[in-house]
Amino acid sequence: MEIVTPFHPPAVLSVDGIGFAYKNGREVFRNFSLTVKKREFVALLGPSGCGKSTMLNLLSGFLKPTAGRVCVNGQPVFPEMQALGYVFQTPNLFPWLSVEDNVCFGLKMAGKTSAAEQREKARRYLSLVGLEAVARDLPHQLSGGMRQRVALARTLAVEPDILLMDEPFAALDAITRIQMNEELLRLWSELGQTIIFITHDIDEAVFLADRVVVLGLPPNGIDSEILIDLPRPRDRHKVRSTARFADYGDQLMHRIGAITQLRQSASLNHSGARNAGP
Ligand SMILES: Nc1ncnc2c1ncn2[C@@H]1O[C@H](COP(=O)(O)OP(=O)(O)O)[C@@H](O)[C@H]1O
Ligand SMILES: [Mg+2]
Repeated sequence: MEIVTPFHPPAVLSVDGIGFAYKNGREVFRNFSLTVKKREFVALLGPSGCGKSTMLNLLSGFLKPTAGRVCVNGQPVFPEMQALGYVFQTPNLFPWLSVEDNVCFGLKMAGKTSAAEQREKARRYLSLVGLEAVARDLPHQLSGGMRQRVALARTLAVEPDILLMDEPFAALDAITRIQMNEELLRLWSELGQTIIFITHDIDEAVFLADRVVVLGLPPNGIDSEILIDLPRPRDRHKVRSTARFADYGDQLMHRIGAITQLRQSASLNHSGARNAGP
């Protein structure tokens, strides 16, 4: 008899029962687990202070868990792993380098490519994000959205398997932010990375992700998860006006509301306990 093993797509990122506390004793995670599949787009959503940035630093190996482990492609993670690329809220470009040189610098740091290859890749990725015309400009000559595109091109040029993004569009105006969301989906469908996208914006999470993971109050970890069953490619006008989009938004709003309320009552209890005299 032939034994058929069911096929499970490999997890590119696995977080197994991690715990983490800062040196001052602030415990942010306890026994937290998460598995992300190849090419999956996962949004980590949660109110401010719930541990989103801490989680990203644990996923990237910049912070070490006090228990459990994080693996990327089956290997324990370490900082600056080639498979990982980061995009943060601020683009962090060198102001004295041209747009193209900023992208080349990222490639130089990653090593492995000759100067000619770095130029060629920088041009290719700048054209992919629609910035070939400003390749010789300095960062201060660009708008905020364009600067964030340069940061995206710099990260994409290194060709990471996994993109870790911490509120990358939070500092942009609403219209630019929506444009960047669409741009990111287009790049993702073309390049096929796995993306972990941190946000506190419900609409952004639903519009982008295959799965939204809601983080609860520290150290509780995952509060809930929702699979986003919206067709791709996602057109902002079509998708945002559907009942399903609104329904996902309502469900997530409900969870975020419950978490915020819990935090308020926890801090009231805490200050009540402190104020209660003998
Ligand atoms: N370096 C640090 N030292 C001590 N506590 C920290 C540090 N960074 C963050 N925290 C605390 O850890 C918790 C989670 O923070 P963070 O991961 O920044 O949340 P988020 O990104 O969701 O806003 C918060 O209570 C925050 O005050
Ligand atoms: Mg944060």
